[in-house]
Amino acid sequence: MFRHNPVLVQEVLQALRLQASQRYVDGTIGGGGHAEAMLKSSASIGWLYGFDRDGAAVEACQARLAEYSDRCEIRRANFDEMGEWVEAGTCAGVLLDLGVSSPQLDQAERGFSFQQDGPLDMRMDQRQELTAARLLRELEPGELANIFWEYGGESDSRRIAQAIAMDRATRPLERTRQLAELMERISPRGGRKTHPATKVFQALRLAVNDEMGSVRRGLEAALRALQPGGRLAVITFHSLEDRVVKEFGRRLERDYEPAPGMDVPELRRPRPAQLKWVTRKAIAPGAAELRANPRSRSAQLRVLEKL
Ligand SMILES: C[S@@+](CC[C@H](N)C(=O)[O-])C[C@H]1O[C@@H](n2cnc3c(N)ncnc32)[C@H](O)[C@@H]1O
Repeated sequence: MFRHNPVLVQEVLQALRLQASQRYVDGTIGGGGHAEAMLKSSASIGWLYGFDRDGAAVEACQARLAEYSDRCEIRRANFDEMGEWVEAGTCAGVLLDLGVSSPQLDQAERGFSFQQDGPLDMRMDQRQELTAARLLRELEPGELANIFWEYGGESDSRRIAQAIAMDRATRPLERTRQLAELMERISPRGGRKTHPATKVFQALRLAVNDEMGSVRRGLEAALRALQPGGRLAVITFHSLEDRVVKEFGRRLERDYEPAPGMDVPELRRPRPAQLKWVTRKAIAPGAAELRANPRSRSAQLRVLEKL
């Protein structure tokens, strides 16, 4: 059973101002919760393109949205490739609900969670060759440390990478439980609320799936897909993703290109602004949603409009 509780649904619908006769993109269709709400709100002729890298999500979604099959098209693809199917300048709204879905986290064999034992896999797209186990096996300690620091903000990254290198010299490191236990040994909790493996697991997941690269390219692809006045709604779950969205918006709301290196006003090259913020501040779930769906607690919605 593929179950994911979509977050901030009403806020997304409001942000995208859905209308019949317009085209929309859900770049992260997952369990299809947002997509279904978007299709209902754009009845009876609004069109939806849906994308997901995860084959199980695409299959589950195609079944869930069967009654809308005459006005939606769901593909297994990275959202950064949406331009291959969606004609530039034709969409009224794009949604990117980033990160992983509940079924990905909850199914031990997908290897995303340190709370259950499974293979160190972490691939969103299981056709891909690179897995977390392979990164842990093949990268030099310095490269692993960089990943833990850059994608996990793990301040103890060098020591952790060294401990992994020593551990893998004695046995294959292939299971989530092995990595979680290694982290518990080398960084005991000491009163912290979060598990010591949290940052390392997040970092490996982002690296395996090149999530930050996909988001950067995906935002550009979304902007190309939008028509003037079209809206881009992005839900993020951690500060790294959110920073990329903020930087994207800040860069394209400016009506000039700064000089390389330093932003000196006299050296700015004028160009038209391409976007504006619909709301300056990120939209967060309200108390009722937080109570009903604790996984929504880190969600933040940002909304931009193409000029
Ligand atoms: C938070 S869930 C989305 C849930 C969805 N909005 C719903 O209502 O069920 C994120 C989904 O995005 C997918 N995903 C993440 N990055 C992606 C990318 N770059 N391209 C396509 N799909 C991606 C994941 O596989 C996952 O299914």
